Amino acid sequence: MTSLGLVMFFLSCVIFQAFPVSSSNYAGLFPDLYQFSCPQANEIVMSVLEEAIAKDPRMAASLLRLHFHDCFVQGCDASILLDKSSAFKSEKDAVPNKNSLRGFEVIDEIKAKLEQVCPHTVSCADILALAARDSVVLSGGPYWEVPLGRRDSKTANFKKANINIPAPNSTIQNLISLFNRQGLTEEDLVALSGGHTIGMARCVSFKQRLYNQNRDNLPDATLEKTYYNALKSVCPTSGGDSNISPLDVGSPVRFDNTYFKLLLWGKGLLNSDEVLLSGNVKKTKELVKSYAEKEALFFHQFAKSMVKMGNISPLTELKDEIRKNCRRVN
Ligand code: HEM
Repeated sequence: MTSLGLVMFFLSCVIFQAFPVSSSNYAGLFPDLYQFSCPQANEIVMSVLEEAIAKDPRMAASLLRLHFHDCFVQGCDASILLDKSSAFKSEKDAVPNKNSLRGFEVIDEIKAKLEQVCPHTVSCADILALAARDSVVLSGGPYWEVPLGRRDSKTANFKKANINIPAPNSTIQNLISLFNRQGLTEEDLVALSGGHTIGMARCVSFKQRLYNQNRDNLPDATLEKTYYNALKSVCPTSGGDSNISPLDVGSPVRFDNTYFKLLLWGKGLLNSDEVLLSGNVKKTKELVKSYAEKEALFFHQFAKSMVKMGNISPLTELKDEIRKNCRRVN
């Protein structure tokens, strides 16, 4: 290459990184963004996760959920990671998150390592997206390319965290409308709910189903009998609210399609899981059955829907920042 050619190549790299090509699929994000500016990024994320998940296999689930709870509140901008400050309340203290979200220390460790190797380059929002993908892969699930280039918010939204994140006792209509508001379809809802193939829920999240499903002091009739009895011993009528139970009792740390099979057998843990099948929406019902039958179909749609969720309102302007510490604005 001539020296002019080299200069042109260098300039095009710089311009491309500063103004990533906008594509409707990727919402202005670009999978190879850190190829030159931080080629070790993927490796660093993966190596921290391998250790964290080997120590605590549930961590994969917790990190997948963090990305979801980030994206549903003012977009995938790492607002979920901000500690409370004099300027705003933390999303961490909102009802769906408090005493429930985990994994913040693992994100801190990834960020600290990235700042050492390529300072001020990889955003906290991108770390969340990569950690979610790698957690799924390390649990035996599908791989997908993660579009990158999200920047980090300078504020959090406590109120929206309470409003936008679906509650475990949601009806099918609630779920569909909360997902639609984020630009996600019924297909995305069912596939992404399959994230519940890993991880745990607290008794308080499913107690209503065991003792008072319809304000009638009766259990949810869709619960299979032996499963219902086992849940009652983990989750008594009073107290035990923070006792935990697997969302996929068949294979709680393996990313597979067992979650959908369990739904067909009356062994889904949350009301929001059960209503995908019993909520009288033909489309979601059919999708549950298809994913229970064909794991490959579920994996394909899950990967597609994760990219779509990861593209919710990313910040891509230079005025938005790349935090040095994911817990506070610079
Ligand atoms: C469809 C609406 C959804 C509802 C109502 C819902 C609700 C919940 C609830 C209540 C818990 C247990 C929290 C606790 O008791 O501490 C939970 C856990 C979890 N959720 Fe969801 N969720 C939904 C969608 C999703 C999506 C889209 C994903 C990811 C793609 C996801 C991934 C997870 C994971 C992995 C866990 C386990 C976390 C852990 O073990 O730390 N959820 N969810």
